[in-house]
Amino acid sequence: MKTESFHGRDFITLLDWSREEIETILDVALDLKRRFALGEPHDHLLRGKTLFMIFYNMSLRTRNSFEAGMTQLGGHAHFLEPGKIYTPALPGKEVAYTTERVSDVARVLSRMGHAIAIRCYGDPVDWVYGAANEMIRNFAYWADIPVLNMECDKYHPFQALADILTVKEKFGGFSGVKFVMSWAYSPSIHKPRAVPQSAIIAATMMGMDVVLAHPKGFELDPEVIKACEENARRYGGSFEVVNDMEEAFRGAHVVYPKSWAAVPMFKPPVGEDSPEKARELFEANKDWICDVEKMNLAHPEAIYMHCLPCDRGFEVTDEVIDKTEGPGWRSVVFDEAENRLHVQKAVMALVMR
Ligand code: CP
Repeated sequence: MKTESFHGRDFITLLDWSREEIETILDVALDLKRRFALGEPHDHLLRGKTLFMIFYNMSLRTRNSFEAGMTQLGGHAHFLEPGKIYTPALPGKEVAYTTERVSDVARVLSRMGHAIAIRCYGDPVDWVYGAANEMIRNFAYWADIPVLNMECDKYHPFQALADILTVKEKFGGFSGVKFVMSWAYSPSIHKPRAVPQSAIIAATMMGMDVVLAHPKGFELDPEVIKACEENARRYGGSFEVVNDMEEAFRGAHVVYPKSWAAVPMFKPPVGEDSPEKARELFEANKDWICDVEKMNLAHPEAIYMHCLPCDRGFEVTDEVIDKTEGPGWRSVVFDEAENRLHVQKAVMALVMR
């Protein structure tokens, strides 16, 4: 296991990391998970170190797993309420922390602690696709300490790590596993693309047979699709895009049905700045729900995944998400949520040590 190259690095997208490095992170996560289960102390790993967490959007899992993780590693996580936002893509919005620019906030925090974690997507950047990712990269440019992406408008890399760790635990590996990332209906049209984009990047990096399913109008970032096609060629799996949820589910080992924003929702040139058109697309596809009938199309031992929070009764029925045990297909959403803790501790221990 080669870990020297981890120290001091940012964690913004899995595309910045090699497959071997991701495998090391998963190994470390499993080791920390074992120690946590046994009650073995590991609070020497980041003793006396500080993580600054800047949340422009709310969170249950991300905030609590980072805070708990830092406590378990012997350090401390500060929860910061940033106020306004700076990004060059948003004229007139020139501050990142009440009255201060990214360049100042990043340099100040670099003198006081050991990493900066940021969550930002959607409304805080007025649905200018990519602006939140740009802001996080701007933090990384100015900071002398690692910058961690807690979900931007392009990527949610820690969620994707938890997702693939869960698949590894359930199937013992990735080869021959059919992984379906599907759009699903929600009454809310305000969902970022970060989870599906990072999930398909991670699944293709691990060499799974990946199917992306969505109705027309919900296409993901073409650069992400291109990266997944390259991953599939390089790592030996496959990648295809279909417009039929039932076709995608047939024989799947992993199904991950989740809502994300329609293309017209974004500001030009990506979209049309039209929540009205986005709403029409959502209402035309209400039958994209994960129910027992669709789960019965999947492999008999299939797992249902969701990053949470989910819209019960819309994205998924209670019967599916609450079937966490018993014979046949099952839901693993709470294992998946728990794994956020272990993968984040692994990355923090590796880059902040
Ligand atoms: N999955 C996830 O990121 O959950 P939170 O929005 O609660 O952090």
